[in-house]
Amino acid sequence: MDLEQIERVVETARDRIAGASDLDELAAVESEAVGRRSEIVAARRGIGALLPDRRRTVGKAVNEAIRSLTAAAAARRSVLEEEAENVLLERDRVDMTLPYGRPLRGTHHLLTSTADEVCDIFRSIGYQVAEGPELELAWYNFDALNTPPTHPSRFESDTMYVESFDGEERRGPDELLLRTQTSPMQVRYMERRLPPVYVVVPGRVFRTDTWDATHSPVFHQIEGLAVDSDITFGDLKGTLAHFAGEFFGPGARTRFVPHFFPFTEPSAEMLVWFNGEWLEMLGCGMVDPNVFEAVGYDPGKVTGFAFGMGVERLAMVKHGITDIRHFYDNDLRVLGQFR
Ligand code: DAH
Repeated sequence: MDLEQIERVVETARDRIAGASDLDELAAVESEAVGRRSEIVAARRGIGALLPDRRRTVGKAVNEAIRSLTAAAAARRSVLEEEAENVLLERDRVDMTLPYGRPLRGTHHLLTSTADEVCDIFRSIGYQVAEGPELELAWYNFDALNTPPTHPSRFESDTMYVESFDGEERRGPDELLLRTQTSPMQVRYMERRLPPVYVVVPGRVFRTDTWDATHSPVFHQIEGLAVDSDITFGDLKGTLAHFAGEFFGPGARTRFVPHFFPFTEPSAEMLVWFNGEWLEMLGCGMVDPNVFEAVGYDPGKVTGFAFGMGVERLAMVKHGITDIRHFYDNDLRVLGQFR
């Protein structure tokens, strides 16, 4: 190879090295240009056969060509390596400032928060909060509450009785049932304390109701009881009007209409004016003297009032919920609206 040829070879090889678009291509180009089988390396092997003065110039040019092509390949390699590295970095890029997937924050069920709200209203005017058993004796659910053995609510069509678990036949007041109301806690509470009594009792109750938009065989009530030396129907009205104002807002109006409950005399139903109509909100009345006698209080010395309200009903009216089953379906799209 003469000097001119060498120069041409170097020029083409340098162009191809510079044009190699990735590391594989560069390796192939480099091996072709300066590898063992390349023209230039073949030329170096032939140097020995040249005349001495040609040997020096050609030898120098060949070595220079190999050196400069090897350097060009190395330079191109570091550019391509850096590019490949940048592609990887770009692909793995993480934006540390993006919001991350936060876990869903839980909250109380609307029935729980409604019952809590009611209890807090009464707590703030001096009432205690107590709870009682869901499996109850007929005595507490009916007899001590002045409910005669023939009262229709005691029929199996209304009340769920529970078979005796100890093999014993239980009859009358000893029969076991799932409480149909929270009222039995009036009796349990009074029989363990002396008056005065101011207590509210939230809890779950059970009836043989068929599941529909306004009925559920399991629902919730809050019972209230106030017993003192001179409690009047005026105290009842004032207390429950205060409750309605706190729960439904200052515009709430209340109305009392006569009703019947075995354990109160007189008895009433309280209606609340809400969103343009009168809605039945709770049952109430003055504690019947027979109930005081059942717990060992002297009806000549104490008077009291009692009331009972449905938690589902309160929540439905307040929040415009039209189907009681929403409370139990546990659909987060519904429940999530009440945080
Ligand atoms: N226990 C009654 C019911 O479930 C509600 C009730 C009415 C409770 C009058 C009371 C009351 O304490 O005085 O329908």
